[in-house]
Amino acid sequence: MQNQGWDRRSILRLTGAAALLPLAQLEALAQGAAPLKLATIGAGNIGGTVGALWVKAGHDVFFSSLNPDELKPMVEKLGPRARAGHTAQAIASGDVALLAVPYRAIPDVAREHGAALRGKILIDACNATARRDGEELLALTKQKGIGLATAGFFPGVRVVRGFNSLGARVLA
Ligand SMILES: NC(=O)c1ccc[n+]([C@@H]2O[C@H](COP(=O)([O-])OP(=O)(O)OC[C@H]3O[C@@H](n4cnc5c(N)ncnc54)[C@H](OP(=O)(O)O)[C@@H]3O)[C@@H](O)[C@H]2O)c1
Repeated sequence: MQNQGWDRRSILRLTGAAALLPLAQLEALAQGAAPLKLATIGAGNIGGTVGALWVKAGHDVFFSSLNPDELKPMVEKLGPRARAGHTAQAIASGDVALLAVPYRAIPDVAREHGAALRGKILIDACNATARRDGEELLALTKQKGIGLATAGFFPGVRVVRGFNSLGARVLA
C-alpha cells in the first residue's frame, strides 16, 4: 500500500473540515486532489454518516461492521466509490480508518486488528458511557483522557480524535 504523505493539512481535511464545512465546500476541497482510500470500522450512525460524507466528497470508502452483509443497501445507494466488507478487508484497503464502534468493542478491535493498523492513521470517534461500555472502561478514559486511553489499545498506530463531539444527525 502506498503511503499518501499524511501531513497536518490532510488530517484536518478529514477531521475538522468535514465537521465544519458545508458539503459544497468539502467537494471543492476534494477537487484536484487524488481520492483518498478510507475505511470505517463500524458503519452505524457515525461510521455510516461520516463515510457517506467522504464518498460524496469524492473519496473511496470501505465500510465495515460485524455484519457487513447488512451494509449492502447503503453502499449500493452510495455508488461505486463505496464498498462494504469485513474489518480486516477495510483496514487493508487504505491508510486511514475511522473507528466508530461502541467503546466496549475497542479492546476486541485492537486485539484482532491492532497489528494490521500499525503505521496507519486511526480517527477515533468513540465515546464511553457507563451504561453501554461499563464503569471500568469509563474510568480508564477519565483517568488517562479518552484519546490516550484509545491510543493505549493501539500501540504503533497514529490515533487522532475526530467526529466525536457532534451527533450523527448534525454531521449529516
Ligand atoms: N451516534 C452519534 O451521534 C455519535 C456521535 C459522536 C460519537 N459517537 C460515538 O461513536 C461510536 C459509534 O456510535 P454509533 O452511534 O455510530 O453506534 P452504532 O450506530 O451502534 O454503530 C456501531 C457500529 O459498530 C459496529 N461494531 C460493533 N462492534 C464491532 C467490532 N468488534 N468490530 C467491528 N465493528 C463493530 C456495529 O456493527 P453491527 O451493526 O454489525 O453490529 C455498527 O456498525 C460510539 O463510541 C459513540 O459513542 C456517536
